[in-house]
Amino acid sequence: MSQEKLNLLYEKRSKIELGGGQKRIDKQHASGKLTARERLNLLFDENTFVELDAFVKHRCSNFGMEKQEVPGEGVICGYGKVEGRLVCAFAQDFTVLGGSLGEMHAKKIGKVMDMALKVGAPVVGLNDSGGARIQEGVDALAGYGEIFYKNTIASGVVPQISAIMGPCAGGAVYSPALTDFIYMVDKTSQMFITGPQVIKTVTGEEVSAESLGGASTHNTTSGVAHFIANNDEDCIQQIRKLLSFLPSNNSEKAPIIDTIDDANRKNDILNSIIPDDAKNPYDMKEIIYEIVDECDFYEVQPYFAQNMITGFARVNGESIGIIANQPKVMAGSLDINASDKSARFIRTCDAFNIPIITLVDVPGFLPGTSQEYGGIIRHGAKMLYAYSEATVPKITLITRKAYGGSYLAMCSKDLGADMVLAWPSAEVAVMGPSGAANIIFKNDIKNAQNPKEMREVKINEYSDEFATPYKAAERGYLDDVIEPAYSRVRIADALDTLSSKREERPPKKHGNIPL
Ligand code: HXC
Repeated sequence: MSQEKLNLLYEKRSKIELGGGQKRIDKQHASGKLTARERLNLLFDENTFVELDAFVKHRCSNFGMEKQEVPGEGVICGYGKVEGRLVCAFAQDFTVLGGSLGEMHAKKIGKVMDMALKVGAPVVGLNDSGGARIQEGVDALAGYGEIFYKNTIASGVVPQISAIMGPCAGGAVYSPALTDFIYMVDKTSQMFITGPQVIKTVTGEEVSAESLGGASTHNTTSGVAHFIANNDEDCIQQIRKLLSFLPSNNSEKAPIIDTIDDANRKNDILNSIIPDDAKNPYDMKEIIYEIVDECDFYEVQPYFAQNMITGFARVNGESIGIIANQPKVMAGSLDINASDKSARFIRTCDAFNIPIITLVDVPGFLPGTSQEYGGIIRHGAKMLYAYSEATVPKITLITRKAYGGSYLAMCSKDLGADMVLAWPSAEVAVMGPSGAANIIFKNDIKNAQNPKEMREVKINEYSDEFATPYKAAERGYLDDVIEPAYSRVRIADALDTLSSKREERPPKKHGNIPL
């Protein structure tokens, strides 16, 4: 081949690789952001990224666009390896027309998503875009529609991870929202449907972009995001970590990671973690760190609905999803946000063959008009639905309270838990002792010479009889009552035993989870 032809290729490629040019790259760096290429280079194992569709061009002729060079169409797409496993990715290039999405930009993203589906690889989307490319009008909107559709078709088949690393506004937010996980980089990313200016015009409300849709807002208040990152590097490293807990697709299991942590390691410290007074809280995360391999727990949505803990860890090298009440926050009660958070996480684990470990210390659903008016009935129902629907191994460990409907909602035997274990401190009952005594011993207390004393007597009577694991164990609702020190051993054993679990469900188009 002539050198001329090769030179033409080199020339074209290097022009594309320079994106929007050095000035805009410098601006990107000055605003604390990496370029799309730098981000992809960090995401993939060294020299494994293969770019696709670098030469794609737009075909818009509105507003002088026919003369406009748009290198790479403002998005870099391709595939490569993360810890040796195939991953597909796209990264919007803000230096090129603000990473705005036009027809061909969308086609590039759609194509790499199609490829991911075909080969069964996760899709990572690095978003940094001014939204629909204004010059392309309805073609840009159609591009978004196409991506939403593909996000939905891929949902539950391959993991989809979105990182918001710059602006993400208007309908553009819905592609990340349709994926499994959203990362947001602190201070440099925003997501909102309508920006501060529109809000001011329509409602008169004044709010900054950061306060409206910054990483902190979506990680703490709205629950839209799952993770917050300090900067671009941190974000990419976290994505690599998350991928290590996930299989490549729904017909595989997550990789087993070698561990030096003995599956038979005892947890003596857990024998004394529950306070003597049942009203006193403790930190459920201490139990989690004690049970999992090498204290490595990657929490999902750590700042949202903190009364419920969700996250990934491993036991004996096997990836697991943990759902746990947090007695330290709102006594671990279930509310609307905790229900949504856990239901979503349960479904993510089930879709991707990740066994679910549920740690229970729950006093009940949170009472109050705000919860009832907000629809706690339909939100709480999501948990019941998600647990019942899940066919992955389900292991439940009750550490203390497990009362009423919330006991059922936290993966009880009747919702299909495969193994339910309880500590001797467990209290499996319709309600807590003082509430129960007030109702069933109402007359004894009222007619007693000393009602206060009688109330205490009756509470103790109820506690001795019902605030224990043994009534539930007698009926077989618990599979065993165990010494806390053997929690890791028993969970590791249950995971091993259940590794060949098969559970079929009647065929249907799809279920109708309460939303
Ligand atoms: C075309 C765009 C663009 C867009 C930015 N640019 N957004 N070009 N369409 N949507 C271009 C700019 O003209 C500029 O080009 C370059 O990208 C960088 O933009 P700046 O404004 O210089 O950057 P900055 O000051 O950092 O501001 C970034 C920004 C702002 C906040 C994103 O550009 C902005 O407000 N853009 C418009 C956002 C928007 O309203 N998008 C439509 C949302 S609605 P040059 O050549 O000067 O470098 C939507 C609907 C989706 O997306 C619906 C789906 C169903």
